[in-house]
This record gives sequence, structure tokens and C-alpha cells, in this order.
Amino acid sequence: MSKKSSLDRGLILGAVRVCEAAAIAASRLIGLGAEKAADQAAVDAMRTMLNDLDMQGVVVIGEGEIDEAPMLYIGEKVGTGQGPKIDIAVDPLEGTTITATGGPNALAVIALAEEGGLLHAPDIYMDKIAVGGGLPEGVIDLDRPPEENIRAIAAAKGKAASDVMACILDRPRHAKIIEGVRKAGARVKLIPDGDVAGVIWTTDPTTGIDVYMGIGGAPEGVLAAAALCSVGGQMQGRLVFRNEDEKARARNSGVTDLDRKYQLADLAHGDVLFAASGVTQGSLLDGVRWMGDKVETHTMVMRAKTGTVRWIKARHEAWRGLKGTIKR
Ligand code: FBP
Repeated sequence: MSKKSSLDRGLILGAVRVCEAAAIAASRLIGLGAEKAADQAAVDAMRTMLNDLDMQGVVVIGEGEIDEAPMLYIGEKVGTGQGPKIDIAVDPLEGTTITATGGPNALAVIALAEEGGLLHAPDIYMDKIAVGGGLPEGVIDLDRPPEENIRAIAAAKGKAASDVMACILDRPRHAKIIEGVRKAGARVKLIPDGDVAGVIWTTDPTTGIDVYMGIGGAPEGVLAAAALCSVGGQMQGRLVFRNEDEKARARNSGVTDLDRKYQLADLAHGDVLFAASGVTQGSLLDGVRWMGDKVETHTMVMRAKTGTVRWIKARHEAWRGLKGTIKR
């Protein structure tokens, strides 16, 4: 008999409501050029909803360390204090610039795991590579040049390298990776922001994206890994340090080997819930839609234990839904 999970099924709807509230709050600031305000609105709404859940939750991936983040900081206790011990990773607004500029694919994201199920990573960078499910174990390796990874993926998928598409954040630091991918004859989809979606896209053949590569946020790496736990796939990550302070912060989070190459199971394992709501219109999820006194949200929620993925379209009464977090 499998061990009973401490993630109660009720938390699935709880995670959905948390993301819905954050997405709605951030959506009020789409296109206003107000990155900080949009993020803060999402944080406030997410926190209110988290504190309504019956659990002893601890934020292990959050908006920063206690002295720099007023809310949802790493170590913050959330929930009613009744119920199971849960580790929580949040990115209340994944795509603050996207939201401020009215671009596509901004999300409100959360992952919940049994205590110890998520890597405790500080808010620094992580080098990542990820592919979707159904490929031979070890097909990708963070330490191989991009050309080799592309050739291995093409061979495993039985297609030409020219039919392989890599998703990469559009940053100068990725010039060498982009060059390597193109040298192998493959294509590159450059995204301005939002690599949680970038990783999840690799798991859906209809996106045409075969692999995610490059350096993005470590918190986003853990969140993306939480999603892959449910839908399948492979991922590796390694923390990237820009200075001694970042190394010290990693050590404070419990990281002992600063050069460690993390496998998917090191980033997230066990029974994990992942949920994301669209803020702006996107290809993974539709954005928040305001319709007079109603507001519509689109959320995906997945559970590692069962592999179930649900897409939940919800219509809320704008002025009384979601514990009063919906505000004009
Ligand atoms: P936030 O909007 O949540 O800050 O993150 C957006 C994002 O594009 C992430 O998806 C990505 O991991 C990270 O920023 C990359 O960081 P940078 O913009 O510094 O290259």
C-alpha cells in the first residue's frame, strides 16, 4: 500500500483559488508600466488566500529573504496552522515586466509539497535544461555543449536537428547557447521573460518546443520542476553565483555543495501540487478576463502522485468572490 500523502485533495482547489486571486489582482495593473505594484498586488492576494488554507505551511521559495520582502518571504509561515506540514514555493507574478507592458504569458504560480519535497533555493540564478516526457533517461546533460544536446534530442525523437526547437530567454548571456543550437541546425524560440512556461511547453508536443535551455531564476527552476513531477520530463539545474553574497545566501538556505548539478528529483520530489493561473493572455493559459461585474480565470493544476492535470475555467463575482481579494 502506498504511503498516505499529507497533501489533502482539498488543497488542489485551495491552490487553484490562491493562483486565481493573485492573477486577478495583478490583472488590474496590466499595461500600466507598474511592475512593483503589479507584483505587490499579486503577493497580497496570494497571501490572503494561503492563510485561509488548513495547513502548517512554510514558504521555502518566495519573494526574497525576510529583510527584503515584506510578504511571502522565505521562511514565512502561512495557513491556519491546523493540518499537515507543507512546503510552499510561490511566484505570485511570474512575468512582472510582461504584465507591466501588456505582453503574453504572465502567470501566477504556486507549488505545494510534503515537508522536504522542494529544494530550498535563494532568489539567485540557475542554469537549466529541460525536456518533456517519453525520452530515454539521460538524453540531456547540462554539462554537454548545446550542439550535443540538440543532436541527442533529435536522435531520441527520430527527427532531424532542423526540426528541433529550443526555447531560450532572450538575454545577452545566452549568445553562446543560441549560437551552439543554431550551429547544430536547430531553431531557437527566444522569449522575453517567463521560463516556468518555457519549461512546461517542452512537455506539450503541440507547442513545437523540444527543449528549454539557459540561465533564469532558481525559484522558477524549482517551480518548473514541480510541474514536471506531474507531467513527466527531465530537468537538470545548477545554481549560478554572481558574488560571495549569493554564495552565502545559498549556504544559509542549506546548500552545502555550491557546484551541485541538481536532477529533477533534487529540485522537487514526492507528492507535489503545481498550479498556475494566466494573468495576461498566453499559449499555456488564457489571461484574466474582466466582463462587467464578473471576472474569468484560467488555471492549470497538477498532482505528482496521480499525474492528473486539470484545467479550471472559473467565473467569479467580481465584488464578493475570493475572500474580498478582488478589487477594482
Ligand atoms: P519575474 O517577473 O517573476 O521577476 O521573472 C521573470 C523571469 O523572466 C523569469 O521567468 C526568469 O527565470 C527570470 O525572470 C530571468 O531573470 P532575468 O530577467 O534577470 O534574466
